[in-house]
Amino acid sequence: KKADFKSRLLEVNKEAAKYFYVQLKSDRGKPAHDYLTNRQLSEEIIVKFGLGYSNKYSDDLYQYLKQKGYEDNLLKESGLVTIDEAKGANDKFWNRVMFPIMDVNNRVIGFGGRVMGDGMPKYLNSPETKIFDKSRNLYGLNLARISRKNYIILCEGYMDVIALHQAGFNNAVASLGTAFTGLQASLLKRYTDEVFLSYDSDGAGTKAALRAIPILKEAGLTAKVIDMRPYKDPDEFIKALGKEEYEKRIEQAKNSFYFEIEVLEREHDMSDPEEKTKFFNETAQKLLVFKEEIERNIYIEAIARKYNIAFEDLRKLVNKYGSQIV
Ligand code: CTP
Ligand code: MN
Ligand code: MN
Ligand code: MN
Ligand code: MN
Repeated sequence: KKADFKSRLLEVNKEAAKYFYVQLKSDRGKPAHDYLTNRQLSEEIIVKFGLGYSNKYSDDLYQYLKQKGYEDNLLKESGLVTIDEAKGANDKFWNRVMFPIMDVNNRVIGFGGRVMGDGMPKYLNSPETKIFDKSRNLYGLNLARISRKNYIILCEGYMDVIALHQAGFNNAVASLGTAFTGLQASLLKRYTDEVFLSYDSDGAGTKAALRAIPILKEAGLTAKVIDMRPYKDPDEFIKALGKEEYEKRIEQAKNSFYFEIEVLEREHDMSDPEEKTKFFNETAQKLLVFKEEIERNIYIEAIARKYNIAFEDLRKLVNKYGSQIV
């Protein structure tokens, strides 16, 4: 009997993941294995995430899958090989550490592959296929959903998720190198009501967090923000300070609105009256997201106290902007 196309694609991915895994454990995979060991991954976590290695041969995965009986058309559609008349069949991933991407049902739907060094691109990902839609999946959610924790940690990268799981934070997931989407938020909402953002502390990570917050709220999730400074991301933070310190950062995580206001504060020179006035005007406009008067007043009060202005002054400013929208 002939299984349908999608399940055959899933089969191919599963075979490829096994192949990469075996390569990692072979002599040829030693540099990749060393790479992971240098990044302080344990044997156990390598197995748990099914990490692998795509070696330097240009079509060995293709030959392997072909010999297993998978036809060219299917292999092409899987995104694992390219086939064209001039260049023949070529594996997509060469000499990279491989991260299989699983859906919530533990099916391999795609791969990310990292160069072992400073090459470009740092990560190469499977293209979108009939089974791989980046905007609808989250890396690590297959494990996080069974973590029995009542919140989920959302970070940026493969290594962040893996480092967090290794440190016992088995509720960590990552968006797949794309901007966080509403579909991903709805997916999270099936398993939790609260998300702790643990994005990179650089400008790009801060921007990404600011964009993710309204998307999370829109899906009915509460968002809090974990501060990774002075380190760049959860992986580096945990390597430097350990899991107890990360746990503390979770406890100190900021209400997402305060986070937004603090980012705004950093963008203004608060010692300059003109800049400070701008800051309050922008803050007042942001306060309009709270539709309920009680909640809005609580925030107005907190912000007014923090920045040392009168509650009534800030409230008036908020109302001024509020009356402009009809
Ligand atoms: N990413 C990607 N393609 C790139 C760069 C990044 O798909 N060329 C995705 C990956 O999922 C990566 C995430 O974006 O994990 C975050 O990127 P970045 O912070 O640059 O990488 P790290 O995850 O920190 O990678 P590493 O620690 O391995 O350097
Ligand atoms: Mn190869
Ligand atoms: Mn980053
Ligand atoms: Mn990193
Ligand atoms: Mn990073």
